[in-house]
Amino acid sequence: MESFAPVVLAIESLEETAVLEPCDVLVVGLADGNELSAAAAKVDAGQGGWIARAAAAGTIKSKRGEITLVPASGGSDAAGPAAIMVVGMGDPDLLDRGNVFDLGAAIMRRIIDVSRDRVVIALADQVATEMHDALVAGAVCGCDGQALYASQPVICPPAAVAMVGVDASQIARGRIVGESINVTRRLINEPPNVIYPASFAEAATRVADETGLAVEVWDETKLAAEGCRAILAVGGGSIHPPRLVILRHDGGGEGEPTLAIVGKGVTFDSGGLSIKPSDGMFDMKCDMAGAATVVGVMRAVALLKLPINVVAICGLAENMISGDAYRLGDVIETRSGKTIEIHNTDAEGRVVLADALDVALQHEPLAIVDLATLTGACMVALGRDVAGLMSNDSSLCDQVAAAAETEGEWAWELPMFGFYDEQVKSKVADLKNVGDGRWGGAITAAKFLEAFVGDTPWVHIDIAGPAFAESPKPHRDAGATGVMVRTLIRWLGGATG
Ligand code: BES
Ligand code: MN
Ligand code: ZN
Repeated sequence: MESFAPVVLAIESLEETAVLEPCDVLVVGLADGNELSAAAAKVDAGQGGWIARAAAAGTIKSKRGEITLVPASGGSDAAGPAAIMVVGMGDPDLLDRGNVFDLGAAIMRRIIDVSRDRVVIALADQVATEMHDALVAGAVCGCDGQALYASQPVICPPAAVAMVGVDASQIARGRIVGESINVTRRLINEPPNVIYPASFAEAATRVADETGLAVEVWDETKLAAEGCRAILAVGGGSIHPPRLVILRHDGGGEGEPTLAIVGKGVTFDSGGLSIKPSDGMFDMKCDMAGAATVVGVMRAVALLKLPINVVAICGLAENMISGDAYRLGDVIETRSGKTIEIHNTDAEGRVVLADALDVALQHEPLAIVDLATLTGACMVALGRDVAGLMSNDSSLCDQVAAAAETEGEWAWELPMFGFYDEQVKSKVADLKNVGDGRWGGAITAAKFLEAFVGDTPWVHIDIAGPAFAESPKPHRDAGATGVMVRTLIRWLGGATG
């Protein structure tokens, strides 16, 4: 059984004079005040002016994201575009990188139902130049989705896309970011019988080999030798043994500091002996989204040749049930030497991260950011669409929050008041793996993690809500979203100034 190959969208840059050449779909913009993009005005002139008339009559709307797709009227330009898509741009001054990304994706999603040879996108004059790469990245992401195993492809990306007025460097950057997000999404969307710790590690190794990242994979023997007893405990009940993947990008100088990113990679979370009900278990192939995000980010960091040193750690285990599964009441000595008492085997992510964070510390990073689909409680706190930020260092947390804001991804800080610490203390061991009751569950999970980062500045990003979507939107399929890939690329790109 093999899934569809990842999309490789051929995107070229086009001069504005070429917009009247033949194509299957010409995409133009309509901003508030019924302002036509330059290309739209040019095309409209050859089409008898129906675009302007329809806009004035309110038949075609300028509201951001509103899309009208119509056959071209012929007119004097019968040899030009076969169809015209008018995209509502809203107020161009209010567009942020997130909106622009979503527009790029929504445009493509509107035309991938049938295969087309050539699509010309000509609305970049209504988008700030420094956001052009986001339009490209969005377009790339709009061409991938979750139907990896349908016997007939559900998505037919066009053979060629031309972007008018977008220069080649923006196209190159947007493609790298968009394809990296798709790598993340693909890893998450693959079913859990295909992606398990060893196959995830192989996929990460392939990405590393293709992009020049250094890679190291720890198998169960090495994990034991390294004292990663927490990861081994969580994975103990599975026939697929755990792995830990270390990816390195050494783009900075030798004496330069290293930044660390760490991802939760539970390739399937049944809950273990504290088993989940079917409803709650169904989407749990997404529980490796943190690790998949880390892989996508590292791919982009390598291809963008960012002048920094980054180490990435993926803690990979499958949380299952068997005679070897870890139990409630078990005490595990983690790699750090701290002991943890298991109160709930479904709070496994933090147990995996305890060892993964300790491995990260060994690289003496300047800062650590971890990503994890860690708690349902974070979704209760912030809703499905917003990532939770929890940190021991307010200026680092502000940096990550600012990167998210710049990219138009939603993230919000939750407090880490000292009194929560009491809640993760165990009567038997140093820590227990749940808080007292379910209140504040996102924060007590973060408090547990905090015990494993020492004094190193650290931000934990709980992506349980936004990593995986139940229903589709105009700009994205349901399933994996690739959330926080853009934010982390932005943060890493800005981390050295
Ligand atoms: N992987 C889940 C969290 C999750 C829930 C992710 C929904 C994505 C969507 C995590 O391992 C988990 O089961 N957390 C428990 C913790 C509890 C047992 C303290 C939870 O949130 O219920
Ligand atoms: Mn769980
Ligand atoms: Zn989990």
